[in-house]
Amino acid sequence: MAGLYVHVPFCHRKCLYCNFFSVNYDNVLADKYIDALIKHAVKFKDEKIDSVYIGGGTPSVLSLGQIRRLLEVLNEVFDLSRVQEFTFELNPESVSKEKLCILRKLGVNRLSIGLQSVEDKSLKFLGRAHDFRTFCSTYDTAREENFDNINIDLLYGLPEQTLKDWKKVLKETLLFNSEHLSLYPLSIEEHTSFYRNKTVICGDIQRDMYDYGAEMLAAKGYGHYEISNWAKRNRESFHNTNYWRNFEYVGIGAGAAGYLKRNRYKNIEDVNMYISLLENDCSTEFENECIDDKLYETETIILGLRLLNEGLDTRCFNSPEKYNILLECLKNKMLEIKNGKVKLVKECVFIFNQIVSKFV
Ligand SMILES: C[S@@+](CC[C@H](N)C(=O)[O-])C[C@H]1O[C@@H](n2cnc3c(N)ncnc32)[C@H](O)[C@@H]1O
Ligand code: SF4
Repeated sequence: MAGLYVHVPFCHRKCLYCNFFSVNYDNVLADKYIDALIKHAVKFKDEKIDSVYIGGGTPSVLSLGQIRRLLEVLNEVFDLSRVQEFTFELNPESVSKEKLCILRKLGVNRLSIGLQSVEDKSLKFLGRAHDFRTFCSTYDTAREENFDNINIDLLYGLPEQTLKDWKKVLKETLLFNSEHLSLYPLSIEEHTSFYRNKTVICGDIQRDMYDYGAEMLAAKGYGHYEISNWAKRNRESFHNTNYWRNFEYVGIGAGAAGYLKRNRYKNIEDVNMYISLLENDCSTEFENECIDDKLYETETIILGLRLLNEGLDTRCFNSPEKYNILLECLKNKMLEIKNGKVKLVKECVFIFNQIVSKFV
């Protein structure tokens, strides 16, 4: 079984911190893009799919008709009868009751909403297109439409944000009682407005905010199952967990990555080129990497150590080289063995990159 990721590379406008692949939404272009997505999906029609994730960009920026068409076709092309989790990403400014109703009807059973902050001042600073009130009404409508599995994304460590500000963001977000929370430290990425304007963030305060968040969420009954992800019992994201388990996935859409039969591919990051390649029955893959045994072992370790509760089987450290690094990390108390699985020591989560770089 494999996951299916569908990339919708359109946004209402670009947030000032974001370098994910997306362009401004255009109705005519989006229609053509969906035609191309359908052609692309057909190429993978025989894959057995157990989870679907429609992400972006901003999938909810598509019109009601475009969302309906995309979902109807995915249901026709693939056998989705064994899909356990079907996630759709929403941005509050582009959601309506009608869109939520059609999503639920056509199989979506999980929503991921980008809130980022509860403070309108911060949302404006980030260049977000919504305010907190709009998020509240989106969330309430989603509950009315019987969505019982909702994730909320938050950003922390914004310039000038204090620990007190962050506590307020968390406190207010927790009132929604969502099933899942993703907390991301704001990073300054190349090719963004923040990068060009030399925006500065403070790593030390991000660490304090992370520790505080972890403590507060644990007290509220959320399990910390991945570095940036917390969930109520049995509400961990199945689709994303399978990425971290190094399982296979199909990736369709401009800029999407896929991983099948030890081949990782990336589709071209250009909407017009993507459409034209599919119109001409050509491959959209512009990067292909064969994952040999050595790389497979490295990637399994790097990804699997993100799963804080699940951890990794010691057999994943198969080669003498990786096994020796494992021993060194166990000795340095960066990794530990608990219930027969190798796990990251909770106190070392913030230096995760430093630890996994030893295995590369
Ligand atoms: C690419 S977005 C797609 C979801 C949706 N469009 C949204 O904005 O909520 C996925 C997540 O990545 C986060 N993200 C994007 N750029 C980031 C950055 N520079 N630092 C930290 N998180 C970032 C977003 O805030 C969002 O929660
Ligand atoms: S953060 Fe989300 S809404 Fe903002 S530009 Fe990136 S993908 Fe689009």
